[in-house]
Amino acid sequence: MKLSFKYDNMFLPAKGLKKKDIPAIKERIGAAVDYVNKLRDGFILPHDEPVTFFDLPYQRKVVTDIKKTADKIAATFDNFVVLGIGGSALGTIAVHNALNHPYHNLLSKKRRNGRPRLFVLDNIDPTILDRLDDVIDMKRTCFNVITKSGSTAETMSQFLLFRDKLIRAVGKKKHVKHIIATTDEKKGILRGIVSKEGYRSFVVPYGVGGRFSVMSAVGLLPLSVAGVDVDRFLAGARDMDRELRASNSVEKNHALRGAALLYLMDRKFKRSITVMMPYANGLYLVADWFRQLWAESLGKNSSLDGKSVNVGLTPVKSLGVTDQHSQVQLYSEGPDDKVYIFIRVEKFDSTVTIPKSFSRVEGLGYLGGHTFNELLDIEQKATEVAIARNGHPSYTITMPKVDAYNIGQLLHLLEVQTAYMGGLYNINAFDQPGVEQGKQFAYGLMGRKGYEDKAAELRKYYK
Ligand code: PA5
Repeated sequence: MKLSFKYDNMFLPAKGLKKKDIPAIKERIGAAVDYVNKLRDGFILPHDEPVTFFDLPYQRKVVTDIKKTADKIAATFDNFVVLGIGGSALGTIAVHNALNHPYHNLLSKKRRNGRPRLFVLDNIDPTILDRLDDVIDMKRTCFNVITKSGSTAETMSQFLLFRDKLIRAVGKKKHVKHIIATTDEKKGILRGIVSKEGYRSFVVPYGVGGRFSVMSAVGLLPLSVAGVDVDRFLAGARDMDRELRASNSVEKNHALRGAALLYLMDRKFKRSITVMMPYANGLYLVADWFRQLWAESLGKNSSLDGKSVNVGLTPVKSLGVTDQHSQVQLYSEGPDDKVYIFIRVEKFDSTVTIPKSFSRVEGLGYLGGHTFNELLDIEQKATEVAIARNGHPSYTITMPKVDAYNIGQLLHLLEVQTAYMGGLYNINAFDQPGVEQGKQFAYGLMGRKGYEDKAAELRKYYK
């Protein structure tokens, strides 16, 4: 079953796109197609590695290895903790929340089909680090430290903390079996530590940046440990990839179509905020993952031909129906600077009927006998129409059901769409100099050797 798309609300009579707007940017669309095709062929953007995330859905050997390791971990441990941040964490969080039981960590191990509880820290708030001890037993916990660079201060300090706690709990020799590292094959401090300490390790493949890495060992190992069917996940991505590769036409290629329409909305109407609003709790953190993908990839200050451009679309995550009672007033009547991507689900795993009690009470009795599924779906349609009637554009992606195959399709679609956006804006969508700058200032202030000039620069602002 495939995802389906509905774009009519992008072409609203007032302040909507016109059919002729698409051919009017055919040069930019051609450039975007060229950009993606060249990347697929190994073209290297300035100051970067080749872009290889397109190939991840096709890998086989490493997946077999990951699944074997995951089964061993599941048989040995009760808890699996991911130490990592940003692209090393968000994909796992998104897919785990979409596909596993919403109360996974609260279920008994039997009800989790023997899979461990999963914790992804994604921050260095001392409270969450400290209080983790209250819910996990170190002796029954495996830690997966994930960092492509092998040196991110947040991840490496998490690693130092939990390594220390582990050694105290199980001893220096035994702690090795409790740590798995996922990092660059050759480079970085963590790779050096892996060799020295003898930790089991996986590779962040060459050319795969953090925010594009969920289909590498970065996401696949923790997801497989937690019981996600990673084969179906990759199969969905693979089928989406084949479909996207089959056509360079805006009519048929939905990654290109979505990108071109959002680009036009920004350029023509200055609608530079992309609100992703799934109507399914399980997809809320997919919108969170998308937030990083969109923001880090597209927020750039210079174009590939060296011009100062300061482009970017601001991603916002929103949840239906919850945010109807929080954000939709703004969406309907506030500034006309947003485009909405609704994600609706055709069939949920559960069907829940509203009881027919109080059937004679006016204003309440009408609910009885309907399902929550119906109510949710009707509310999605009602919100889409209400927003459109207020003159605001949206498009809707329908997922037949939330399963591994469809999540694989959706995530790959959004990754390729982001790549097309890079081509439309003529920017490098695969670097993150703004993030690196912050990392370097932090290294300097924390006293890392070689970053003294960064510390000095920052001290000018913070005396
Ligand atoms: O997408 C990215 O490249 C970033 O968000 C990184 O994932 C994040 O900064 C963590 O970097 P690293 O994996 O090197 O620890």
